[in-house]
Amino acid sequence: MKLGISLSLIAVLFLTIAMLVRAGWERPPMESTQQGYRGLGMVEIDNPRTQAARAALNQLPDVVPAVPAGGPAATSVYKNVQVLNDLGVGEFTRLMVAMTAWVSPQEGCNYCHNPSDLAADTPAKVVARRMLQMTRHVNADWKTHVADTGVTCYTCHRGQPVPSNVWYTQAPQGGAFAGNRAGQNAPAKAVGFTSLPLDPFSHFLANGDEIRVQSAAALPAGRGNSIQSTEATYGLMVHISQSLGANCTFCHNTRSFFDWDSSTPQRATAWHGIRMVRDLNANYLEPLAGKFPDGRTGPLGDAPKLNCATCHQGEHKPLLGASMLKDYPVLAAVGKLAVAAPTPEPVLIGETVIIFFALDSVALHDAAPRTLEILVVKLKANPKARATISGYHSATGDAAHNRELAKNRALAVQGALKAAGIAENRVVLEKPVVEQANVAGEDPKARRVEVVVK
Ligand code: HEC
Ligand code: HEC
Ligand code: HEC
Ligand code: HEC
Repeated sequence: MKLGISLSLIAVLFLTIAMLVRAGWERPPMESTQQGYRGLGMVEIDNPRTQAARAALNQLPDVVPAVPAGGPAATSVYKNVQVLNDLGVGEFTRLMVAMTAWVSPQEGCNYCHNPSDLAADTPAKVVARRMLQMTRHVNADWKTHVADTGVTCYTCHRGQPVPSNVWYTQAPQGGAFAGNRAGQNAPAKAVGFTSLPLDPFSHFLANGDEIRVQSAAALPAGRGNSIQSTEATYGLMVHISQSLGANCTFCHNTRSFFDWDSSTPQRATAWHGIRMVRDLNANYLEPLAGKFPDGRTGPLGDAPKLNCATCHQGEHKPLLGASMLKDYPVLAAVGKLAVAAPTPEPVLIGETVIIFFALDSVALHDAAPRTLEILVVKLKANPKARATISGYHSATGDAAHNRELAKNRALAVQGALKAAGIAENRVVLEKPVVEQANVAGEDPKARRVEVVVK
């Protein structure tokens, strides 16, 4: 009997000590906030002693001093301004300084710029330009999620060029004998080291698969009702909870996870957040695949993408709800639609006809057949003469795509000559030529086809 008591005392003492030294155990007192009706256990638990540390993690960078209004437009001073074309030079420069502090404080301006030519496009600058559009899009069109608090580059980047929370699609998990495990039993941080599928993101944050466990029908079949979608749904929910530092009851009444009437308002905000993340991944990050510095991609060749943790980083609201946007309202503007420079008319210079094309287009200028007429007359007068067509394209953008474009433009001109009665075999197509002089940007003169008759 006595021995029994001593043994249990030792056991209790051992367990208490083990509990105290284990990571993840927090000593009382804790603070709790009620999220739903009394008695439902819908409470958020907070440790007041971690507040100072969390505040330090979410400290805001200094605000770059405001610049006086007025001054010339950035587009009138700089050569290659495609997105910030609604800013004055002062505001433009202020934003460049802020962006450097938010994204590349160690590397400075040269992370994105070629110091000898600020107008030249580098891979980082091309990504950053799209990021500017993405940030404006979030602030202007996703107020259902970000409200007026909004986001800046800092919300995700926190002073580093690659945000600390990004994800790629994972290669299928297969073994020689076990077959495809659908990503299960490969503990991953994204799903709290559980045995849940390790990549719920491809289903739900890149594709728009239904996030469902409960079925609306008896004996359900098909998409959104399988065990796999249940497991992936729980995987995503673990990620959401971790990213926000929140319990499931921050959004759900666990009596019925699916019931919206007994869910909290935060669940509706989260619903919009899921749609926002899908939109940003599909329309901004995915199309940048292969365009990141180093051409970095995931194991399946996809672009790095974002999830809830990219902005939230463990808090209910990113940066503890502070708004940096109010100091940089230009990041909420929609911007002027970039007006494409008009395509110049076709010209005849000496013996050569030059036909210009609109950006990314193979459509012939309306005046092209008229300008080509003079060559057609020459070709008809001399049955031995041939037309030679050379396509030029700019050195910016995707080289293979540009070559294809130049080839198709040359074919369009060949088609015009054919329509005027010149047989195809009298037209020589030369290899496309890269216009090196145009590395700086969108010079419409680079997008051209030249035709001579020899
Ligand atoms: C995170 C990337 C990034 C950093 C860092 C950065 N810039 Fe830029 N910069 C851009 C982008 C993107 C554009 C083009 C904006 C557009 O198209 O609307 C640009 C354009 C410019 C231009 C206009 C060039 C022209 O003639 O078209 C100047 C000048 C400039 N930046 C200066 C700076 C300076 C100075 C710094 C450092 C204080 C800096 N930038 C830091 C991304 C960056
Ligand atoms: C919603 C989150 C988010 C916001 C806001 C955001 N970015 Fe990004 N950014 C990303 C993600 C995700 C990547 C891809 C990470 C990678 O490159 O591996 C990225 C990549 C980049 C890169 C390429 C870095 C590299 O070396 O691969 C640059 C440059 C960049 N962002 C600049 C900016 C600028 C400038 C802004 C503000 C105008 C901005 N970003 C706003 C999420 C964001
Ligand atoms: C920040 C809010 C939030 C948190 C925290 C959260 N969820 Fe969810 N949950 C949602 C939203 C939003 C949906 C519906 C998504 C949709 O339909 O696109 C959902 C859907 C679900 C569903 C599917 C319900 C159905 O219709 O079949 C289950 C089950 C679920 N959550 C469980 C959990 C669990 C378990 C946790 C804790 C690990 C959790 N959730 C944490 C917001 C949240
Ligand atoms: C582009 C950055 C960004 C991303 C990505 C993002 N959020 Fe948010 N979220 C915010 C901002 C900013 C707020 C604060 C809005 C406000 O002040 O009301 C917020 C607020 C919320 C809230 C309300 C919190 C509260 O205390 O009321 C929830 C819930 C939430 N987000 C869930 C999510 C979920 C779930 C995801 C991933 C599917 C997600 N967020 C992805 C920026 C983001």
